[in-house]
Amino acid sequence: MPEADTSKKQKQYHEDVPMETPGFFLKGAGNLDWGMKNRLARIFNPDTGRTVMLAIDHGYFQGPTTGLERIDLNIVPLMPHADAIMLTRGILRTTVPPSLTKPIVMRCSGGPSILKELSNEQLSVDIEDAIRMNVAAITLQVFIGGEHETRSIHNMTKLVDMGLRYGIPTMAVTAVGKDMVRDAKYFRLACRICAELGVQFVKTYYVPEDFETITASCPVPIVMAGGKKLAEFDALTMAYHAIQGGASGVDMGRNIFQSDAPEAMMKAVSSVVHQNTTPKEAYEIFETLKNQK
Ligand code: R5P
Repeated sequence: MPEADTSKKQKQYHEDVPMETPGFFLKGAGNLDWGMKNRLARIFNPDTGRTVMLAIDHGYFQGPTTGLERIDLNIVPLMPHADAIMLTRGILRTTVPPSLTKPIVMRCSGGPSILKELSNEQLSVDIEDAIRMNVAAITLQVFIGGEHETRSIHNMTKLVDMGLRYGIPTMAVTAVGKDMVRDAKYFRLACRICAELGVQFVKTYYVPEDFETITASCPVPIVMAGGKKLAEFDALTMAYHAIQGGASGVDMGRNIFQSDAPEAMMKAVSSVVHQNTTPKEAYEIFETLKNQK
C-alpha cells in the first residue's frame, strides 16, 4: 500500500496542454461503445464539446426548494432552453411531458433528508428503470472525505458497472460536507477518484484558485456545479472562468431557477458556455432578454 503522496517535487498538471481526444470529441471517451458515445453526444453538443444542464433534483433531499415549488408551472417551460435536464424519476414521471426530447440525467442516489447525515446515501434507481425512462445518463452524489465515503464510492462503482452493461454514462457529483474545505486540492482529489473508478463525467464546484489544475488532472469532462444563488453577473462570471479553466459545461440549478428571469439567465449562461461570451456581454444578453419579457 503506497503511503500518502508527500513528495516535495512540484506537481506538473500541464494545464496549457489539453488532453488529446482520439476517436471522439469528449475527453476520455474515445474507447467507449457506440451507445455510450451517442448518449454523451446528446448531452454535450458535438459542435462545442460543451453542455448547459439544468439541475432540478434538489427535492430528493430538501423537498420543495425555493423556485421548485411548482415544477409544472415554473420549470417545464424552461426545459427546451437547456441542453440536458438533471432530475429525479418522481418528477420525470409525474411532471415532465414525455414529448420532451431533451436528454435526461437521472438522479440515482438518495436516502437521508436535510435533517440527517447527507453522506449516508444508497442507490435509489435500478438500471432497468433507467432504461425504461430512456435516460441519457445516470448520476449520484459522492462524498469524498465524508462520514460515509466508502459507501458512496461503492454506490458509484455499482452504478458505473450497471451503466457500462447497457451503454449509459455515469456522472459523479462531488459533494462537499458543511465543514470541509472547498479548494483545488480537495476537488482534484475528489474528481480524480471518481474518474479513476470509472465515471464518464464529473460535476464539481468552481474554485477561483487553480481550477484549471482540477480539469487538467481529471481524464474525463468536468461540468461546473452552480451552488447557492449569486447575483446574475457573478454567476455568469463564475461560469465564464470555469469554462475558460477547462470545464466542459455547467450543471446549474438555483442560479437559473431562482433568478428573476430564469429563461434569460439560461440563455446568457448558454452564450458563455457555447460561444465563450464574456461575463459583461452575457450580462447584457441577460438584461436585454429580461426586459423584453
Ligand atoms: C446536489 O446536491 C444536487 O445535484 C443538487 O440538487 C443540484 O445539483 C444543485 O444544483 P445548484 O447547486 O446549481 O442549485
